[in-house]
Amino acid sequence: MEPGVGVASRRVSRRDFMKLMAASGIAMTFAPFVEWGRYLPNPSGNEAAGKTKIVLASGVTANISSFPVDHAEVVIYPKTNDPVLNKEAFRTWQLIRLPKEMGGSKNDATAFRLYSMVCLHLWCLWRYYPRRPDADDPTKIVGGNGACPCHASTYDVFTGKAYGGPAALQAPPANVLPRLELEADPAGDLWILPPSWNVRGNGIVGYGRYL
Ligand code: FES
Repeated sequence: MEPGVGVASRRVSRRDFMKLMAASGIAMTFAPFVEWGRYLPNPSGNEAAGKTKIVLASGVTANISSFPVDHAEVVIYPKTNDPVLNKEAFRTWQLIRLPKEMGGSKNDATAFRLYSMVCLHLWCLWRYYPRRPDADDPTKIVGGNGACPCHASTYDVFTGKAYGGPAALQAPPANVLPRLELEADPAGDLWILPPSWNVRGNGIVGYGRYL
């Protein structure tokens, strides 16, 4: 082995380990809330059988017929009655309706993704950028991806996997965003299914998920 390689990988492992410990602590903080939430006063009055109807910041329910293709909005989950808690980064998710090239015009829940907005590198909040002509070369289409403003990590919104920047250099599962599963009811309203907060399930916020 080259002299510096082992040291570097040990350094990365130690950093990942610390992130996992911190992220796991937060996940453990949230996990009881999710379970006990069934017995707590319902903040939005819209939960049924452990599922949570998605209400956007505007107060409108996310619905397949009204949510635009190639568009994203912030969703808070799990939501509480405390507006301060609701501002925590670890409750902040990006609801994306995929571009039509990725299946976003389908009239079912497969057209959508809901990912943690906490970047897997150093926990800034990334966001979705719709497809658009490039400012320098309008014949070229850019966007249709997630990007972090801090160190330019980029995310494939079809899978949640980082493909550019420092997050893409991290070993699995620290290179794939946590994702919540969705379903649509007969009226087209979108619901979040009960999550499993581990790397082989929905992932650990701030740490990652196995694809
Ligand atoms: S925190 Fe997102 S790229 Fe560094």
